[in-house]
Amino acid sequence: MNSFLSAESQQNRQLLLIEQYVANQFNNVEAGHDLSHIERVYKNAIAINKKEKADSFLVEAAVLLHDIADEKLFIKEEAEAKLDLFFQEIQLNKTVANKIIDIIENVSFGNSIDKNIILSKEQKVVRDADRLDAIGAVGIARAFQYGGHKNRALIDTENPPQKYLSKEDYRNNNGSTINHFYEKLLLLKDKMETETGKELAQQRHDFMLSYLKQFYSEINFEGFSSLEGIK
Ligand code: ADP
Ligand code: NI
Repeated sequence: MNSFLSAESQQNRQLLLIEQYVANQFNNVEAGHDLSHIERVYKNAIAINKKEKADSFLVEAAVLLHDIADEKLFIKEEAEAKLDLFFQEIQLNKTVANKIIDIIENVSFGNSIDKNIILSKEQKVVRDADRLDAIGAVGIARAFQYGGHKNRALIDTENPPQKYLSKEDYRNNNGSTINHFYEKLLLLKDKMETETGKELAQQRHDFMLSYLKQFYSEINFEGFSSLEGIK
């Protein structure tokens, strides 16, 4: 039966179903990517979109689904096929479904190392919202949580941060969690696309710098001398 709901109510119903779908899929994944990440990114996206005024349905749906086919958490092809079926089940128009998929394919930091693409307004909002959750106090917590999960050292003063030229190199490195600040977290501020994203990123960036300063002073370390080259 064709739905008689207004377009807006139909979209709200679809968003609720998407939220439930994501909650089910994320039931058992590593904590750095749990539902609380999705919830924080969702809030960030709403805040950013107040100014950007991108299509709010696309933004909200894409935020909810942005990690659903992440190859670190799921088998990508399986997750994509499942999502495709789910979109049909909730009667999401094919064009809209493709737009959502297009947004989520361009969110990841790893993907952006290899690609240089022009982003839509929706992609900018979702990407900034996700990146904000990787920096500041929450970002620091997530980095050490991830490092713990992977058995990484907190810091290894003998092995300084590196510059990764490809997604594979970035993913396969086994460096310390403090290295990750230089290899990713401190780079994000300059990669923000929206005005609100930039403002929020600056505060969180400054907080990470003072955190690192305090960390080094507690262990009497002068900092990494090779850092000049890392941009
Ligand atoms: P993206 O999908 O944008 O490439 P990830 O999924 O790799 O990002 O990262 C998820 C979370 O785990 C982020 O908070 C990120 O900073 C953290 N993380 C990723 N790689 C590392 C690492 N090598 N050391 C510490 N934290 C990491
Ligand atoms: Ni994410």
